[in-house]
Amino acid sequence: MVYNEVTEIELPKIKDLRGNLSFMEECQHIPFKINRAYWIYDVPGGEGRGSHAYKNTAEFIIPLSGSFTVEVSCGEDNTTYRMNRTNKGLYVPKMTWRELSDFTSNSVCLVVSDTTFSDCEYIRDFMEYIRLYNLSR
Ligand code: TYD
Repeated sequence: MVYNEVTEIELPKIKDLRGNLSFMEECQHIPFKINRAYWIYDVPGGEGRGSHAYKNTAEFIIPLSGSFTVEVSCGEDNTTYRMNRTNKGLYVPKMTWRELSDFTSNSVCLVVSDTTFSDCEYIRDFMEYIRLYNLSR
């Protein structure tokens, strides 16, 4: 599997009469070691999250409950993903601009990341992102 770009990854789903179970293991189902997990929830209708890129952080985004939209830009190339399957996540490599929107009520977005939190990791201005993206090519 090649993971240089934004990739939807389907996770195992173990079904039985008691319900479903999914799981992920670092460096197995997702292509990095997990240093952090955070989750976004109780997002009011119409609100968006994200609108930034990370200089050196990769993430894997999973809709644990409900659904939401992730729009990613790799430089000027845009793709939109509707996240609505609990066993399917989105791998987002470093230097990807991402915006989350259209959260359904009670949706929960789990994010696992290969870095611990650092404010210096963020690029919050899109034009600055494009400039740094082009420099990194
Ligand atoms: P931010 O990443 O800007 O949220 P979003 O991208 O979902 O809009 O983070 C919001 C606030 O939470 C900001 O003050 C930083 C803080 N934060 C942490 O302290 N640790 C974390 O792991 C994350 C992701 C955010």
